[in-house]
Amino acid sequence: MTFSGFLNRLADTDLNVWIDSLTPTLIENWDNTNDGNLPKFLKALNNLPDIKTKHIKLSENIIEIGHPDEICNSQREQLLESLKALMPWRKGPFKLFGILIDSEWQSWMKWNRIEPHLSDLTNRLILDVGSGNGYYMLKMLNANAKITAGVDPSLLSTCQFLAIQKYLNAPNAAVMPLTMENVKPNLETFDTVFSMGVLYHRKSPFDHIAELKSALRPGGELVIETLVIHGDENSVLVPVNRYSVMNNIYFLPSSKALKNWIMKAGFEDVKIVDESYTTIKEQRATEWKLGTSLSDYLDPNDPKLTVEGHPAPLRATIIAKKPYGQTKLPRYKLS
Ligand SMILES: C[S@@+](CC[C@H](N)C(=O)[O-])C[C@H]1O[C@@H](n2cnc3c(N)ncnc32)[C@H](O)[C@@H]1O
Repeated sequence: MTFSGFLNRLADTDLNVWIDSLTPTLIENWDNTNDGNLPKFLKALNNLPDIKTKHIKLSENIIEIGHPDEICNSQREQLLESLKALMPWRKGPFKLFGILIDSEWQSWMKWNRIEPHLSDLTNRLILDVGSGNGYYMLKMLNANAKITAGVDPSLLSTCQFLAIQKYLNAPNAAVMPLTMENVKPNLETFDTVFSMGVLYHRKSPFDHIAELKSALRPGGELVIETLVIHGDENSVLVPVNRYSVMNNIYFLPSSKALKNWIMKAGFEDVKIVDESYTTIKEQRATEWKLGTSLSDYLDPNDPKLTVEGHPAPLRATIIAKKPYGQTKLPRYKLS
């Protein structure tokens, strides 16, 4: 089974309580899926050249695995062909044996904004919800995480991670084809849970925050990064039609409103640690993600607006702690 190495690793940790429910979900969502794209992706994975490497640099902005001197020309061609068959590469960049995968997003920019605010990740059990192809998970491994479990319903994300994993060989990390809703409720085991770029895709943000909370152990850390708008505690944008061309966007709160939501969901020490506009340096079309990108989604006459006239993409990161006991709302004395 594709994920057996990772499941074996989980067995040695407090996450062993997840294995019984996770295994059949993986079989259903991966082995028994009828997604028409998967055969093409699997063909690309099977075509990856067999090369062993110890040249691994996860600390740089461009994640580097394998050295150009370790492959011959024909292997290089084979590798390039397989990686291209796994396009579009949205998250990255990666350099595999000298081949630069110049992804749509310069994901290191987000990581560098968030990383200084995180509790030490050493030895932590980490859940990355909406992990994409696992770029940030490799950063978490670099910070000495014990386990990084990525969940993302996109089979392409799983396949891109499997391509990287072939050369990385890190059995304590996996991108699994699951939604957060598929994760066993009330695991209460992860030390840190990340949800980056997911909340605005969810129709029910409070349910999402509650799911994240139920995966965390008491005292664990929540990291939420999402699109926000300027405004006060009561400001929320629900774009009726598209937002920045995307049709699956529901709630864009202000940072202050999101902070209140997270407090309402029972977290403590809730801090807004970053607010940044997305720039066309951070998100742009490349030869690894052809077609349109952020510059096409902004109003050409006013880059502070999207093409639909909404405020341009602004993202915030909030970090919070799951309390050890139940948080109680203050009582009011009725006269
Ligand atoms: C905008 S991308 C963000 C990727 C990455 N976390 C980042 O911040 O760059 C959103 C990702 O969330 C995934 N996603 C959407 N709904 C999800 C859900 N219910 N549970 C888990 N992942 C989800 C999508 O497949 C996509 O890869």
